[in-house]
Amino acid sequence: MERLSKTIKAAGKTIGFVPTMGFLHEGHMSLVRAARQENDVCVVSIFVNPTQFGPSEDFDSYPRDFQKDKKMLAEEKVDVVFCPTVKEMYPNVTLSQTPPDIIPPKNLTACLCGAFRPTHFQGVAQVVDIFFHRVKPDRAYFGQKDFQQTVIIKWLARKAHLNIDIRVLPTIRESDGLAMSSRNVYLKPKERKRVIILFQALQLAKELYENGERNPQRIERKISNLISQNFLTSRNQEMKLQYAEIRDAETLQSIHEIKHPAVVAVAAIIGKTRLIDNIVLG
Ligand code: PAF
Repeated sequence: MERLSKTIKAAGKTIGFVPTMGFLHEGHMSLVRAARQENDVCVVSIFVNPTQFGPSEDFDSYPRDFQKDKKMLAEEKVDVVFCPTVKEMYPNVTLSQTPPDIIPPKNLTACLCGAFRPTHFQGVAQVVDIFFHRVKPDRAYFGQKDFQQTVIIKWLARKAHLNIDIRVLPTIRESDGLAMSSRNVYLKPKERKRVIILFQALQLAKELYENGERNPQRIERKISNLISQNFLTSRNQEMKLQYAEIRDAETLQSIHEIKHPAVVAVAAIIGKTRLIDNIVLG
């Protein structure tokens, strides 16, 4: 991959890079199309990165379908599909001893999802840093659905002086509003019907904001109540709201008034599935 990237760059061509963990859906494909349009060469990686999963998380059961992914990428005429093994990504020592070269700051990694997945973003920064050095992209593409991840990757690109344009594209949704995610496949039919409440809560936040509400705590309370009430009325389904928070969209810090762009982010567990979603206000 490194040799290929060097050859492409030496020929004066630009590289657009879409890192993925596979099990591709329309969300990924929208990134792939943008990368193809905006660059001479499009590289897509498929790698389920073990360092971003906690010990009790779904690394082993994370959905994988390499043949289908390859077919989808071929249909979009992707130039390079880069699928390294764990050993190729982390060659020097055993995985548990592989220290990340770059550690993102706690103020970005400890809040929101980081409060529930303490080592997750360190693992993401580690693997994306390795990919960026191997693929050497001019532009890299990420979905807004993983909002906190995009903030941390922008920090990484700045910090490591990588001169990569980090492009964040809108969340792609199912027809009822559910954000597309590889993990949606875990949802049982009854759960699938229920999870739409997360999107509805974000719509409520947007409506309150558009009607002039600028107090984040009041919006948080209303959307948390909406989600929790819905979860309480569901029988035999384990549902738990992890957070519904409004934070500064650039720094991820808590705010007392919405004056600048702010992210409304939610995370919930439904049965065995952890889902996240967000919108940006202002
Ligand atoms: O968003 C993802 O799928 C992953 O976190 C990423 C960026 C491919 C790193 O493993």
